[in-house]
Amino acid sequence: MILKNKFDFIKSNIKTFLYLYSQIANCMSNCAKMSYNYHTPVMLEEALAGLNIRPDGVYADLTFGGGGHSRAILDRLGPDGHLYGFDQDLDAMHGAPEDERFTFVRSNFRYLQNWMTYYGHETVDGILADLGVSSHHLDEAERGFSFRFDAPLDMRMNQRASLTARKVVNEYTEAQLADIFYLYGELKQSRRVAAAIVKARNSAPIETTGQLSELMNPILGFGREKKDLARMFQALRIEVNGEMKALRQMLHSATQLLAPGGRLVVLTYHSLEDRMVKNIIKSGNLEGRTSQDIYGRSLSPLQSVGKMQVPSTEEQEGNPRSRSAKLRIAEKI
Ligand SMILES: C[S@@+](CC[C@H](N)C(=O)[O-])C[C@H]1O[C@@H](n2cnc3c(N)ncnc32)[C@H](O)[C@@H]1O
Repeated sequence: MILKNKFDFIKSNIKTFLYLYSQIANCMSNCAKMSYNYHTPVMLEEALAGLNIRPDGVYADLTFGGGGHSRAILDRLGPDGHLYGFDQDLDAMHGAPEDERFTFVRSNFRYLQNWMTYYGHETVDGILADLGVSSHHLDEAERGFSFRFDAPLDMRMNQRASLTARKVVNEYTEAQLADIFYLYGELKQSRRVAAAIVKARNSAPIETTGQLSELMNPILGFGREKKDLARMFQALRIEVNGEMKALRQMLHSATQLLAPGGRLVVLTYHSLEDRMVKNIIKSGNLEGRTSQDIYGRSLSPLQSVGKMQVPSTEEQEGNPRSRSAKLRIAEKI
């Protein structure tokens, strides 16, 4: 009799046992993976609070990176919840948790809607996007994202993509280059920078981040060379990775895909990105055109949850890369 009761007890709790076992195994494997600091997640607590996670919900982290946000989401999901982690970078995939509640999707997040349909979800309960590049990108010299190293001009997040920074720098017209530096880098000297690039490449192609930085040094603002170089490199990276187009498509898909009450949480690092996010939340479109019903109520499918947030002073001091972050949270109506 006692034996039978014990057996029933174990049988009825087998799912919980398996779940706890997978949690311990996962935690051990994550600890091993985290010994190399791929990326420190920004505004982790604020972003998680924004997602308002339901333990049995379906969530998408569109920018897995080092998985800091994803792991914290998994910690709050129960055995019936599921998280899809997107990243277009192969390096990010190597850090994906081995957890049956997690699926890594190696893809650009612009295809979010297609992937969710493929996995059988008409709606999801929350979407997180922490835009831009990871510390891993900036710290790995050979990826060509940083002016701190001399490396081939690459800057692709997706190693399978055909457009590289080398192509942009050597093949775009002077006017195209000036537009990119002005729009995506907000560089005051955008025309002079573009002209200098075109003049230099007429003698020989510009191959490395070092050559490009050296070429720019006499043109950039005195005393603010590093800031201007950072803006210039940011502009090239945004162009190489088609970041604005991907963001536009993703915001449209996310708005449609969220279930009523579902949350959209977006961390941006650039004013153009932030404007798009702000507009889609306010009006349901990227231009910020507001439409109202006959009673004057907004027809936007999203409503803002609280105000835009920035990292605390402590976080900014502890993680200087968080400094330009802006967090916006919205709920599907
Ligand atoms: C700022 S990091 C995210 C860091 C992550 N939240 C963490 O805690 O480690 C951005 C990541 O998103 C990826 N990414 C950026 N744009 C993407 C896009 N359009 N589609 C898929 N992945 C993208 C980058 O490769 C990078 O790994």
